[in-house]
Amino acid sequence: MKIGIPKELREHERRVAATPDTVKKFVGLGFEVFVEKNAGTAAAFPDQHYQAAGATVVNDAAAALQDADIVLKVQRPLTQAEGGPDELSYFKPGAKLIGFLAPHADLQQVTAYANAKVDAFAMELLPRITRAQSMDVLSSQSNLAGYRAVLEACNVFGRALPMMMTAAGTVPPGRVVVMGAGVAGLQAIATAKRLGAIVSAFDVRPAVKEQVESLGATFIEVESEETESAETAGGYAKEMSEDYKRKQSELVHETLKKQDIAITTALIPGKPAPTLITEAMVRDMKPGSVIVDMAIEAGGNCELSEEGIVETGGVSIVAHPNLPSRIAEDASALYAKNLLNFLTPLVDEETKSLKLDPEDEIIRGTQLTRDGAVVHPNFSGSGD
Ligand code: NAI
Repeated sequence: MKIGIPKELREHERRVAATPDTVKKFVGLGFEVFVEKNAGTAAAFPDQHYQAAGATVVNDAAAALQDADIVLKVQRPLTQAEGGPDELSYFKPGAKLIGFLAPHADLQQVTAYANAKVDAFAMELLPRITRAQSMDVLSSQSNLAGYRAVLEACNVFGRALPMMMTAAGTVPPGRVVVMGAGVAGLQAIATAKRLGAIVSAFDVRPAVKEQVESLGATFIEVESEETESAETAGGYAKEMSEDYKRKQSELVHETLKKQDIAITTALIPGKPAPTLITEAMVRDMKPGSVIVDMAIEAGGNCELSEEGIVETGGVSIVAHPNLPSRIAEDASALYAKNLLNFLTPLVDEETKSLKLDPEDEIIRGTQLTRDGAVVHPNFSGSGD
C-alpha cells in the first residue's frame, strides 16, 4: 500500500498532513510513503527529515499521488475553477482521500470524488465518541487556534495583560472576554489566564459553566430557560430563539464596554456563525480594544469583521482565516497524529491493506463516497 502526501496548495495553508514522525509509523505498519518536495517546509519539516523517516521525496504532486492508494491532505483538493491545477486528476481510481474536505462548502466536489472513483473521507465529520477522540481533527486544531487567537490579540493590543507593579507605576491587568467556550474558547481562556488577564466567558450551553470556572474565569449567564435545551446530543450548540438572542445581545453589549479584548469562537454546525457583536457594540468599546473573530470562515461573529485586520473608532478587529495554519508546526504534528490514529485500526495486519467496515460508526460518519457513489446520508440525497 502506498501513501501520497502532496504539498498543500490553498491560500493561507502552511500545514502538512504527515510529519516525519507519522511517516516513520506508517513505514512501520508496512506502507510505502511518497512525499512531494517541500510539502512540509512551511511547517518546519524539511524533506531530509521525511527521507530519514523512510519516505521517498518526489518532485511534484503528480508523482506523489499517481500510484497512491491513500492520499492524506489537510484541505480539500484544489479545482481548476478555483484557479489551481486540478488536484483530483492526479488520483488513481480506487484511491482513498482523507482530509478536511468541507463537503458543505462544495457539494459538486463530493460528486467529483465519486465520478473519479475516489473514496473520500471528511475528517471534520468524525463522530465525537470516546473511541474517536485521538482522531478528532476539529479538537486538535481548535485547541491550538484558541491559543493562537490570544497571541494575535496581544500582538495588536497596545497594553500588557498581566498586572505589573513597577517603580514607574502600576500596569493594570487586561480584561478578556471569550464568547463560545468550546474547545477553542476554553484554550483561549486558559491562555489569557496564563498571561495574567481577568477573564470571563459566554456560551449558550450551560454545561460549559463548570469548565469555564475551573479555569479561573467568570461565566456570564444569559437568564433563560432555553439554555437547558441549547445542546445537541453530539455536544454542539443549537441556534437560539430571537428572545434569547435579544437578551444575550444586551448582556454582551454591557460586558464589552468594560473589556480590552474579546475573542469570539461561536459556531453552529452547518449554519452561518451567529452574530454576537454588532456595529453599535463595537462603537461603544474602549479605544485600543481588540476583537479576534475566530469564526470568520463561517461568516464571523462580529458584524464588522473582514479577513485580516480592520480598525474602526480605535477598535481593532482581527479576523485571520485559518488560525491553525499560523501555528503550523504543532498543528501539523497533531493533525498528522489524528490521521495516523484514524488509519492504524483499519490496517489488516496480515494482508497489510485497509479493511473498512462501512457499518462502523467512524467510517459511516466520515465516508463521503465509495465505489463511484456518494454514500454519506447528508450528501447522497437520501438524508437531511
Ligand atoms: P464549536 O466549534 O461548534 O462551537 C464553539 C462554541 O460556540 C461552542 O461551545 C458553542 O456552544 C458556542 N456557541 C454557539 N453559538 C453560540 C452563541 N450564540 N453564543 C455563545 N456561544 C455560542 O464547538 P466545539 O469547540 O467543537 O465543541 C463543542 C463541544 O463538543 C465541546 O465543548 C465538548 O462538549 C464537545 N466535544 C466532545 C468531544 C468528544 O467527546 N470526543 C471532543 C471535542 C468536543
